[in-house]
Amino acid sequence: MAMIAYKCPQYKVTLVDINPSRIAQWNSDVLPIYEPGLDEIVKKTRDRNLFFSIEIEKGIKEADIIFVSVNTPTKTFGAGAGMAADLQYWEKTARQIQSHAESNCIIVEKSTLPVKTALAMERILTSNANAIHFDILSNPEFLAEGTAIENLENPDRVLIGSRETPSGLRARNDLVEIYANWVPRKRIITSNIWSSELSKLVANAFLAQRISSINSISALCEKTEANITEVSTAVAMDSRIGDKFLNASVGFGGSCFKKDILNLVYLCRYYGLQEVADYWEGVVKINDYQKERFVLNMLTAMFNTLAGKKICLFGFAFKADTGDTRESPAIFISRQLIEEKAELVISDPKALDNAKKDLEGLNGKISYIVDPYEASYGCDAIAVMTEWETYRQLDYKKIFKSMTKLAFIFDGRNILDHDKLFEIGFNVFPIGKPPQTHF
Ligand code: UDX
Repeated sequence: MAMIAYKCPQYKVTLVDINPSRIAQWNSDVLPIYEPGLDEIVKKTRDRNLFFSIEIEKGIKEADIIFVSVNTPTKTFGAGAGMAADLQYWEKTARQIQSHAESNCIIVEKSTLPVKTALAMERILTSNANAIHFDILSNPEFLAEGTAIENLENPDRVLIGSRETPSGLRARNDLVEIYANWVPRKRIITSNIWSSELSKLVANAFLAQRISSINSISALCEKTEANITEVSTAVAMDSRIGDKFLNASVGFGGSCFKKDILNLVYLCRYYGLQEVADYWEGVVKINDYQKERFVLNMLTAMFNTLAGKKICLFGFAFKADTGDTRESPAIFISRQLIEEKAELVISDPKALDNAKKDLEGLNGKISYIVDPYEASYGCDAIAVMTEWETYRQLDYKKIFKSMTKLAFIFDGRNILDHDKLFEIGFNVFPIGKPPQTHF
């Protein structure tokens, strides 16, 4: 919404939320999320044509177009628990819009939703016999965290789905016109509303599938003498395959991949497509397996006991350039290490506040230190969880000197110079490559 306000000064954009402290943060100098470039855009537009408010009813009354971006987490109760999307917030919002709207209105689904949600929303919105007409559009968001501003400014595509009725098509055009203020028209694609809803789930499933594919091969590399970086380079040079999203890692995280795949799996099961559901569920299973394997590798390498050993995690965010830790592999790995009675020191440039919340109540010794030198001081091992650029640049000689020997490094992102670390004296365990040890 900040990008729309920035690119289209002729529109007034108002953001409303039920949470007053969130809105207060958006109106303050310290925004509630860290995203490179966002501060500048909010500063330029706030109180010009971008407003943050808790006056939801007023916002609904005044709007010609309402973007609904409420959360749709995985359901934790009842039918579909652990898989289906929890649509209670979406439904509440639809009912709120229905009670307060005073004129015809376009409703845009911005949240990621299961296919056919628009139909349910349409039913709720038209259930009152008032004369107000609502058109529902699906406009999924494909931005990735850490590069959100870049992705919004220069998107690969903008997808807008609508009913193919005259008023649906008119509404669709209205939204196309907004994006056309800065996105080339050939990148704005339109479709029927169900294709649009499904495309978002499928795009995320395909991206996650690439990571699980390469991660599954990393396990095979570790059993043979193959090297995952060499394999992925060779595979990626086939122009039909390409080189994106082929970095083997400790596993994917983030608020979308797992949730959206499970959602897709649930939909397939719902429609009786067992084989299709099992196929996609495999992507999540491999991701869990990769995280489990990582901890097991640590345990085996460190002589089958981690009890009392001090382990430093480099990074806690689910990826670099964000403070977000949702579904971060570091959460699972920390829990497992604590189970093994290891002592943890967690380091991250942006995610320590979230890390503290994620590990709250965990029964073990954990400290949180931003500075990586201080964090790794006296540790038996370092495990790289997040591909922060800063971890590539450190003085590892200095770090080695300060650590308990034998010093181990487990590079869960394959971002470090493994030969150099080995020369310094570390015992090095990358993903999908032969370990280098001095014993
Ligand atoms: C993702 C989609 O990319 C985006 O289009 C969608 O709108 C939301 O979900 P995001 O969750 O922000 O975005 O992160 P993304 O960059 O896709 O990374 C997801 C996870 O995969 C991270 O944990 C990342 O570290 C990991 N990853 C990514 C790998 O392990 N290997 C790779 O090669 C790429």
